[in-house]
Amino acid sequence: MSVRKVSHQDTWAVRNEILRPGLPVSTCQFAEDQLQGAVHFSFYDMGQQTGVVSAYPVEFPADNSLPNCWQLRAMATLEAARGKGHGKALVNALEDYLSQQSAQWLWCNARNTAQGFYLKLGFLVVGDEFDIPRIGPHHMMLKALGQSGESE
Ligand SMILES: CC(C)(COP(=O)(O)OP(=O)(O)OC[C@H]1O[C@@H](n2cnc3c(N)ncnc32)[C@H](O)[C@@H]1OP(=O)(O)O)[C@@H](O)C(=O)NCCC(=O)NCCS
Repeated sequence: MSVRKVSHQDTWAVRNEILRPGLPVSTCQFAEDQLQGAVHFSFYDMGQQTGVVSAYPVEFPADNSLPNCWQLRAMATLEAARGKGHGKALVNALEDYLSQQSAQWLWCNARNTAQGFYLKLGFLVVGDEFDIPRIGPHHMMLKALGQSGESE
């Protein structure tokens, strides 16, 4: 098993299957993928890609005074691979990489259905619920890098 830094094109298959099911693969290409510094990781289990995550140097919308912010996006693991730690390993690898780039804050628009996953990884909910059409209710979540996940 391994986590590898990959190109944005390498994330499209999992993005498509999990985050944009039934939609053209073109919907899995984000404008932010072209940003300088955009980064993508994939999880591989016995050579099969089971999950992806991306991050972009984007300021935190709720507080643009926070320095060195990155947005986590397109977090997904294949259904058959869930609950095995692949998602956590991807976020851990992303955080290690970003910390080396002097990142200080990591934030995301978290689906309510994934909020528990991010809470376990040390993110906190910020602000009120909002809806993203065709996807559902979300909250912004934020984590100061260099801090571990929730205590037991
Ligand atoms: C959310 C998602 C990425 C989690 O991936 P995963 O590989 O199953 O996560 P892990 O196995 O690494 O789980 C890490 C921990 O979070 C917990 N967890 C995982 N998903 C959870 C959820 N939806 N709610 C609450 N806890 C969750 C696990 O139980 C595990 O806890 P533990 O460390 O105490 O054992 C995956 O379910 C997914 O792709 N969902 C659909 C797409 C999605 O919602 N993406 C996020 C968009 S904001």
